[in-house]
Amino acid sequence: MSKNLSQLARRQGIDNTLFQQLIFSDSVGSTSVNSTDALKHQRQVLAKEFLMGEAVVHGAASFYDFIDDGTNEHNANKKAYVCNGSSCLCANTQATVKETLVAEFGAENVGHVTCLGRCAENSAFQVNGNNFSGSDIDKVKQIIGEANTASNENYQVRTTLAEPILTAEISDVAKYYQLFEDLSKQYQQQQLLEKLVGSGLRGRGGAGFPTGIKWRSALTETSAEKYIVCNADEGDAGAFSDRYLLEHRPHAVLFGMLMAGLLTGARTGVLYIRAEYPEAIKQTEQAISEFEQLILDEKISAGFSFKIIKGAGAYICGEETALLRSIEGQRPVVSVRPPFPTQSGLFGCPTVVNNVETFASIHFIFSDLDSVNNSGVDKYKTLGNGKSTGSKLLSLDGAFVYPGIIEVAMGTTLTKVIELAGGFVKDIKALHIGGPLGGVVPLAEIDKLTIDFESFSDNGFLLGHASIIGIPQSMKMIDYIAHLFEFTALESCGKCYPCQIGSVRGQEMFEQAITGKQPINSELLSDLLETMQLGSLCALGGGVPLPINNILQYFEDEVSPYFLSKQSTEIGE
Ligand SMILES: Cc1cc2nc3c(=O)[nH]c(=O)nc-3n(C[C@H](O)[C@H](O)[C@H](O)COP(=O)(O)O)c2cc1C
Ligand code: SF4
Repeated sequence: MSKNLSQLARRQGIDNTLFQQLIFSDSVGSTSVNSTDALKHQRQVLAKEFLMGEAVVHGAASFYDFIDDGTNEHNANKKAYVCNGSSCLCANTQATVKETLVAEFGAENVGHVTCLGRCAENSAFQVNGNNFSGSDIDKVKQIIGEANTASNENYQVRTTLAEPILTAEISDVAKYYQLFEDLSKQYQQQQLLEKLVGSGLRGRGGAGFPTGIKWRSALTETSAEKYIVCNADEGDAGAFSDRYLLEHRPHAVLFGMLMAGLLTGARTGVLYIRAEYPEAIKQTEQAISEFEQLILDEKISAGFSFKIIKGAGAYICGEETALLRSIEGQRPVVSVRPPFPTQSGLFGCPTVVNNVETFASIHFIFSDLDSVNNSGVDKYKTLGNGKSTGSKLLSLDGAFVYPGIIEVAMGTTLTKVIELAGGFVKDIKALHIGGPLGGVVPLAEIDKLTIDFESFSDNGFLLGHASIIGIPQSMKMIDYIAHLFEFTALESCGKCYPCQIGSVRGQEMFEQAITGKQPINSELLSDLLETMQLGSLCALGGGVPLPINNILQYFEDEVSPYFLSKQSTEIGE
């Protein structure tokens, strides 16, 4: 079924996707259709145009946070949105933000959004399609008056590398793309793929899959059409490194996609950028225009074009198969693999999906290839531990003295990172690293960790996207677990039962314990977590047991009063 729908979507191609037709305007949640009848009519017209059933169109439209699904509970069309991500939760800033926005706009006009990526400053919210944070909430009246004001944001960007890779400035854009011209003339695809494999680059989207192997697999597929897709759906609360790259180094990302096109035979690059990042969309659009101008000026001879697809508020669209279904206008549920996207991806064509940071690493790797022992490949692979190579961006939230983005060599100790970030502004008891599916690291475990895939997994954590949120002493760990279950329940795509039902049962279990209705049965909870971990189709349901188990293990004393056995013992005493 979904294969047929992919083929139908292919008829219209990437320039006219059902998904983008469902999103009417440029700012989050401001669709122009406001009556239920008009909405229904519009969806019927779209169904006809795309030769899809009305149920398919409704199925897609009703999935997203920022698309009006015709019900009263939808979260679209709001005048303001309050960030409810984990970092703002830990910073305890959002009650004031919400109160201020509700007083200004009325409760019915204030929606919610999971992570605007303003984690360095917290107090994050959106008004008029622009994001704000820090002390901006104190001048909300002024913000409303200035419809298109770009918000001021203060965060540090630093690197420990003598020769930065991801944070390096790109001063001359034409010269930057000259490398593409040189490489395409001097090398064969296979030669460059060997170099890429040799660099050891592994995907930065979380799973750490070797990039060269992925690209090689796409090259071996025979197809008239292939696609390069940049996964810029950075939904992990606490992460804003992809946003940084798109806003400040967009040409590094475009260059990586261009090279992926050269090495796999694809001519179209698609950037799926989440709607929560309006500034990233704007800067990337600008960079694409600059790229197109270079082609017109004959500075680049690439037959390659870029297209931006704007998301509509769904965490699961960061999972690559859901992301591809989303672009096609289908309901974005996760697909079983194989086939892998490199075999059958966007519109059923071979597709390379990589993270923003993965693409941004490519220019450095392919620099100075002729240089003996000092090529980009050589320099890249000497950073790290041999298995995790190169550099990594870390997103440091407002709990640090110097919050922001820091680029470090793989293998750098976490203790060093904290030292460079100036320590913490408040009393911290743990770090939540790698997004909602990443581990919760208690302070006592910090000195065991180095920034690489192996160290984190060997110690029972996950590097993931390498966002770091400080969990303060004041945050009750029982509330934090409830928050993680609530997030999963809200964002589950519903494809498999362990996650769809398990996350809701988990949320109920913790809510009942917190409100004193029913203490938690530890056997039942451990059964639930094991079922989710082993039985879920993707890493949303399969991953959330990790941070929860970390908390149960390291903060047992704090959470045990909420558990049945412990409570009965205490009552008996
Ligand atoms: C629930 C879930 C959410 C994900 N979110 C993202 C995301 O926001 N960005 C991303 O690049 N990868 C995300 N991924 C991983 C992608 O599925 C995919 O592995 C990645 O985009 C591949 O690129 P890479 O090889 O460069 O890492 C997510 C995976 C899961 C299971
Ligand atoms: S684990 Fe959750 S998000 Fe992943 S496929 Fe299953 S229901 Fe969907």
